[in-house]
Amino acid sequence: MRFKILAMLWLAGAALSASAQSKSFLVAKFKAGDDTARKEAGYNDKDWQTLKVTDVWDRQGVPASTDYGWYRFHFDAAPASEADRQKTEGDNYLYVNLGPVDDVDETYLNGTLIGKTGRFPTDEGGYASMWNTPRKYLADKKLLNRGGDNVLAVRVYSGGEPGGIFRGPVTVSTPRNLDGTALTFSEKESKGTSKCVITLSNEFPWTVKGVLEIKEADLETGKVGKTIRRNISARPGKNAEIALPYNIKSPVKMLVTFTDSKSGEMLKKAYTPKYILTPPAPAAPRFNTAPVYGVRPGSPVHFRFGVSGDRPMTFSSADLPEGLTLGADNGVLSGSIGDYGDYIFTVKATNAKGSAEQTFTLKVGDAIALTPPMGWNSWNCWGLSVSQDRVMSSANALVDKGLADYGYCYMNIDDGWEAPYRNDDGTIAVNEKFPDMKALGDWLHERGLKFGIYSSPGDLTCGGYLGSLDHELQDAESYNSWGVDYLKYDWCGYWRKHATQKDRNTLASYIRPYMLMGEYLRQQPRDIFYSLCQYGMADVWKWGHTVDANSWRTTGDIEDTWQSLYSIGFEQQLDLAPYAEPGRWNDPDMMIVGKVGWSDNLRDSRLTPDEQYTHVSLWALLAANMLIGCDLAQLDDFTVSLLCNNEVNAVNQDILGKQATCVVSDGDLRIWARPLADGSTAVGIFNVGDDDITVNLADYLPRLGLKSLKTNRDLWRQKDLSTTDLVYPVSTHAVRFLKVS
Ligand code: GAL
Repeated sequence: MRFKILAMLWLAGAALSASAQSKSFLVAKFKAGDDTARKEAGYNDKDWQTLKVTDVWDRQGVPASTDYGWYRFHFDAAPASEADRQKTEGDNYLYVNLGPVDDVDETYLNGTLIGKTGRFPTDEGGYASMWNTPRKYLADKKLLNRGGDNVLAVRVYSGGEPGGIFRGPVTVSTPRNLDGTALTFSEKESKGTSKCVITLSNEFPWTVKGVLEIKEADLETGKVGKTIRRNISARPGKNAEIALPYNIKSPVKMLVTFTDSKSGEMLKKAYTPKYILTPPAPAAPRFNTAPVYGVRPGSPVHFRFGVSGDRPMTFSSADLPEGLTLGADNGVLSGSIGDYGDYIFTVKATNAKGSAEQTFTLKVGDAIALTPPMGWNSWNCWGLSVSQDRVMSSANALVDKGLADYGYCYMNIDDGWEAPYRNDDGTIAVNEKFPDMKALGDWLHERGLKFGIYSSPGDLTCGGYLGSLDHELQDAESYNSWGVDYLKYDWCGYWRKHATQKDRNTLASYIRPYMLMGEYLRQQPRDIFYSLCQYGMADVWKWGHTVDANSWRTTGDIEDTWQSLYSIGFEQQLDLAPYAEPGRWNDPDMMIVGKVGWSDNLRDSRLTPDEQYTHVSLWALLAANMLIGCDLAQLDDFTVSLLCNNEVNAVNQDILGKQATCVVSDGDLRIWARPLADGSTAVGIFNVGDDDITVNLADYLPRLGLKSLKTNRDLWRQKDLSTTDLVYPVSTHAVRFLKVS
C-alpha cells in the first residue's frame, strides 16, 4: 500500500499548467477540391460547409471519392502584450496541433506554409501516406495579424477512403518548452556495468535546459534510496542524455523529474530498467524439458534432452527401449519405434558437479507436439533479409548461450528463402541466400536442433515469394527430403485463389487449402509440425485439429508495442482456452523480446522490461508457441534470463496442456490462471493500466477455486512466499507470476 501512495503522490505533480492564449477547434470550414488560392487569409469561404475535425470526412456526407479537400480555421490574435514578452523562446512562436491527417497535408498560416507531412501524388517520389502521424507545427508569430482575423488553412489529400482530419480538436497555442520535449529510457552495458540511459529529447528550434532529478525506489519495498541531480541541456532538435550505473540484479524503479529552468514546468516519468530475476542455474545437471515427447509409429525420433549445468556432461539410460539410441555427449535421443504405446525409461545426466535423473515417457501415437513448440523464427528479426548464415549464427547462439538446454530447438526460416521460379520439374527452388537446404537440415540435426520452414497455400507468399499452390505434394516431399520438422503455412497470397471460388463464403473454402497440405504432410515418413497462419479467420481454433494442425495463429501480426501485446495477448485470447490441448495449440505469434526489426536493421524491443516480463509470463500461461523472434547472436543477459527460467517455462510446457483463462478483470487488474499437472495453479497477476496498483490476492482466492493457500511460489524469483500475506505492488504493465495450491 505504501508503495502505491508514494508513487501516486510522486506522479500527482505531473500535470502541466495550461498554456496561455490557446484556441481549440472542433469544427472547420471545409470544401472539397483543390485550389491553392484557398491558403490566403482573405479568401472568401463564406459558402463553405462546416465539418467536424473529430471524424473523417467520409462519415460526414463528403463523397468517399473525394481526393483533395481544404479546411480553414479562423481565429483572432490578441495584440502583442506584456504577457507575450519573452519568458521562453517559445513565446515567439505559435504551436499548431492538427492531430493525424488522413493521408497527406500542407498547412498554411495566413498564406505562408508552416508544415507538411506525407507526399502528394505530384511530389517527387510519388504519393506517400502518413495518415497516423500527429501533425505538430511551429509558426513564427510575426505571421499573425494582431488584433484581426487569422486563418489556418490545411490542404489535404486522401489516397483512398477514409480521409481528412479525424482526431481533433485542432489547437493553436503558444508552445510551452515542454511541448517539444520527452523523457525516454534505454539500457546499455559497458565494461560489465549496466547503465540506465535517460534521454531528454527536444524537437523545438531552441535549447531546453534544466535539472534532472532521479530518485531510485526499491521495486519490492517502494523505499526511496538516493536522489541524484544533474543539469542537462538539449540543443535545438537534439537529444541530451545521462547514463546512470545500476545493479541489474536488484531492481530499482527510477522516478525521474525534469524541471525546465526557464518556465519552471516539470516533466515526470517512472521507469524500471532491465532487471534480472531468474536465479543462475546450478552447476550440477538439471533437467529443464518436459518429461514427455510424442512421435508417430515408425517416424524418426529426434529429441534433445534439455539439461543445464557445466559441460562436459554425459548422458546415459539403463532401460532405453529397443530401437532408440541416446547420444552420450549431447543427450540427443534418436531411432524409431514401430508400435503404439507409452515407453517409459530413465535418463541420467552427469558432470563434474553431480548428476540428475528424469523419468521420461516416449508416447508413440498419433499426437506429436505434446507440449508447445519452443525455438526461434527469423521473421521478427530479419524479415525478408533472412539468410542461411543468419540462421546458422542464431542456431550456434541457441546452443552456446544455453537456450537449447531449456528446450528451445526449432530453428524456423520464415518467408524469404524461395527462388523466383520453380525448377523445370516443378519442385521448389531456393534463392542464393540458401545454398543447400538438405545440408542446413543435417547441420541443425547434428546439433540436436530441428528445422522449420515457411510457405503459403497461395501462388505467392506475403513477401511476394513463391507459394505452394498447385505444387503441394511436391513441396511436402521436398521438405521431407531436406529434413524439415516444422511448416508454417501462411494464407496470404491465397486470397486471390479464394476470391475465385464459388463457395468462398463457406467454412469449407477456408479449410480446403489447409486440409490438402495437411494430408500431404501426413504422407511423409517424418513428423512435421503443422503450423497454420491465417490470422484466426473462420474461427480456426475450432477446426485446426481437423486438418491435423498442431497450432494455429489466432491473430494478425504482433509488433513490439504495448498496444499490440495488450490486444493480442489479453483481449484476443479471452475465449480460446477450450481449444488448446496436447498436440493442438493456439498461437498468439512470435515473441517480441531482444533485438528485432523485421529487416536488416535491428533494434531493442520497444517493450519496457516490465512489459517483457508480462509477455513471457502470459505466453507461458497461454500455452503459446514459444518462438523467439530476435537475433540470438545478440542476446543480452536480461533476455537470456527472461527466456531461460525453468520454473516459468515449466508452466508453458506443463503436460496437462490446459491454457489459462482470465479469472479476474477488475479495473486495470487482470488475473489469468491455468491448472497444472501436479494439481497446483499458475497465476499471473497483471496490471494493464498506466498507474501502479497494489493487489491483495486474498480478495480473489475464491475465483481461483481456493479458500486459502498451502503453497505460494514466486516463479520468476524462484522463491517460496508467505501463504497468508498476499499483498503485492504491481507496477504499470508489470506482472507477478505465482504458482499456488
Ligand atoms: C505474415 C505472417 C508473418 C510472416 C509474414 C511473412 O502473413 O503473419 O508472421 O510470416 O507473413 O511474409
